[in-house]
Amino acid sequence: MKGVILAGGTGSRLHPLTRITNKHLLPIYDRPMISYAIEVLVGAGVREIMLVTGGTHAGEFLRLLGSGDEYGIERLSYAYQDKAGGIAEALGLAEKFVGDDRCVVLLADNVFERSVRHCVDAFVKQDRGARVVLTHEPDREHLRHLGVAQFDGNQRIERIVEKPEKPPSEFAVTGIYFYDASVWKVLPELKPSGRGELEITDVNNWYLSQGLMEYDVLDGFWGDAGESIDAYYAVNDFVRTHLANKAR
Ligand code: DAU
Repeated sequence: MKGVILAGGTGSRLHPLTRITNKHLLPIYDRPMISYAIEVLVGAGVREIMLVTGGTHAGEFLRLLGSGDEYGIERLSYAYQDKAGGIAEALGLAEKFVGDDRCVVLLADNVFERSVRHCVDAFVKQDRGARVVLTHEPDREHLRHLGVAQFDGNQRIERIVEKPEKPPSEFAVTGIYFYDASVWKVLPELKPSGRGELEITDVNNWYLSQGLMEYDVLDGFWGDAGESIDAYYAVNDFVRTHLANKAR
């Protein structure tokens, strides 16, 4: 399975910090944010990785990560996203890199307390389709800033609602996604959302409409360090006290 780490975007919710650097190069406790994303994938056994980034600080990723060898990566490729056209647009840049393989896609501002290896293993066993990873979030205000799962009576996800005014459940969709090769047929069909971006939630809703989506629910802390300055500091505080990406 190939790994795709998405580290583009404008980071506007962390302005002015992100006027002087890329969001994913900002520190989380003792190292740059991007290091945690790499650790998530390498720790789960994914060693062929493409990093998608953009903007004026893309060169700094090369300086930090180089060949990726030091991080346990076997093959590290880079892609450049010209404009912040959305998560799904950024993913499209990895099509040739992933080829006929399956992929795990990770948003580089997501930080996990525990290893996600069990999710990778579950997707390897899954026949086809896609997989998302949910986290229990009882805070309704927080849910309004995330993708939220809506369930049917059999605990199957019916659809995912992006940044809902009225959250349909207490389960948020984290920024780690698993796709088979049909994703490359779905991406060109997407239309920009109200915020002018190609949304990963639309990709996930396509898989749901085909009955081809499974999910896991995380235990342990999960944080989106790019959501707001307060979220950024909450993730820093958590990692400083408890560390991240711990073996289960
Ligand atoms: O963190 C989880 C949430 O991430 C999910 O619950 C939402 O369903 C999902 O849409 C996403 O929401 P965000 O609004 O937090 O996404 P954001 O625009 O912050 O982008 C997340 C990462 O994706 C960002 O750290 C870098 C990458 N990205 C984003 C855009 C817009 C790119 O590489 N290119 C882009 O054009």
